Amino acid sequence: MADIKDPALAPSGRDRIEWAAGEMQVLAQIRERFEKEQPLQGVRIAACLHVTTETANLMETLAAGGAEVLLAASNPLSTQDDVAAALTEQSGVETFAIKGEDNDTYYKHLNAVLDLQPQVTMDDGADLVTVLHTQRADQLTHVLGGTEETTTGVIRLRAMAGDGALAYPIVSVNDADTKHLFDNRFGTGQSTIDAVMRATNRLLAGRTIVIAGYGMCGRGVASRARGMGAHVVITEVQPTVALEALMEGFRVMPMREAARIGDIFITVTGDTSVIRREHMELMGDGAILANSGHFDVEIDKEALRDLATGGIRRLRDSVDEYTLADGRRLHLLGEGRLVNLAAAEGHPAAVMDMSFANQALSVEWMVKNHADLEKRVYPVPEEIDREVARLKLRAMGVEIDTLTDEQDRYLHSWDQGT
Ligand SMILES: NC(=O)c1ccc[n+]([C@@H]2O[C@H](COP(=O)([O-])OP(=O)(O)OC[C@H]3O[C@@H](n4cnc5c(N)ncnc54)[C@H](O)[C@@H]3O)[C@@H](O)[C@H]2O)c1
Repeated sequence: MADIKDPALAPSGRDRIEWAAGEMQVLAQIRERFEKEQPLQGVRIAACLHVTTETANLMETLAAGGAEVLLAASNPLSTQDDVAAALTEQSGVETFAIKGEDNDTYYKHLNAVLDLQPQVTMDDGADLVTVLHTQRADQLTHVLGGTEETTTGVIRLRAMAGDGALAYPIVSVNDADTKHLFDNRFGTGQSTIDAVMRATNRLLAGRTIVIAGYGMCGRGVASRARGMGAHVVITEVQPTVALEALMEGFRVMPMREAARIGDIFITVTGDTSVIRREHMELMGDGAILANSGHFDVEIDKEALRDLATGGIRRLRDSVDEYTLADGRRLHLLGEGRLVNLAAAEGHPAAVMDMSFANQALSVEWMVKNHADLEKRVYPVPEEIDREVARLKLRAMGVEIDTLTDEQDRYLHSWDQGT
């Protein structure tokens, strides 16, 4: 059934899954409760997520709650083959994912998890939901609801709901405070810089790093790049966000100016063609280009290929060199796909703990409440978000103050002033 690279990789996957589990105490507490209460007993779940050690811990939590789960990759390059093997061979979660799979295989794998006739979909980027709605609409009646992990997926789902095309309710896990304020910022921040360093082994100190997009992810990447001693330049399209970046001390300019001065370019906008031919034509010899946004459309790869009349070669793992007609070389990391997953291991487990705690609790909430929900995108209920933060603080051994009765009254009053 499953489609993985090599079942013999399972033991190494198991060790790494356990290593991640050590940092995922919130999910562990949920798993313990799920084992006892079996809230997902018999529920069929099709998941389309990056196949990483953290995802494995989520899959095992859902299975512990009684669910029948199949997993496919949400990106052709992000799969950790040893994790896919451990899940399939040891956890009973059949996985359909091979690192480097071509587009046809990617979609074959999405269809394989949909063969389960899922009642719940769990998506990262909304590809699964799209295939279900466009090619397998006959199955939509089985679906109770779904969850979505990332900004780009939520944008697509809101567009579907706006057009009246969304056939079932979906919880936007991305919008939970305990997700995007931590995962997108600290997770993408650290793992993107980690990926650039692993792929290139270049010194960042003193270099100019251009970051396109100063959203939740972009500000994480920017602050960590600054921490490494780089000169950070931000490009933006939203005036207020650009102003924030400026007052945070970063230089802000259009990409056509940044292209001339950058050593390393990182896109993280969720938008398309952010770095295009007109920018590549201005870049210096040796410039490095990477993308950490969801789809591989932020850097115009077709334009890069067209410009590379001097040849294209793989120089190191995850580094492709494109030689332009005048001899300048541009280096694309991870084929322009999410660099932190293609060239590193994705977010550290400690932040995924919160994102995936939200996933597990949102699925439970959806299964309980689906009959009362409309076919639209729902936020993660506030009580879940707060609970995840409370459990995380406890796991980190941190206590906080509570309001006194007087403070509580004061904060709810309107007649107390000077
Ligand atoms: N690499 C990862 O592991 C990871 C993790 C979380 C999210 N993501 C993805 O990263 C992307 C960004 O997510 P986010 O949460 O930061 O979104 P966000 O909406 O908070 O921020 C995106 C920012 O990009 C800006 N932008 C849009 N078009 C632009 C352009 N042409 N040039 C410059 N700036 C532009 C927007 O104004 C916005 O400020 C999404 O695709 C999301 O799915 C990736």
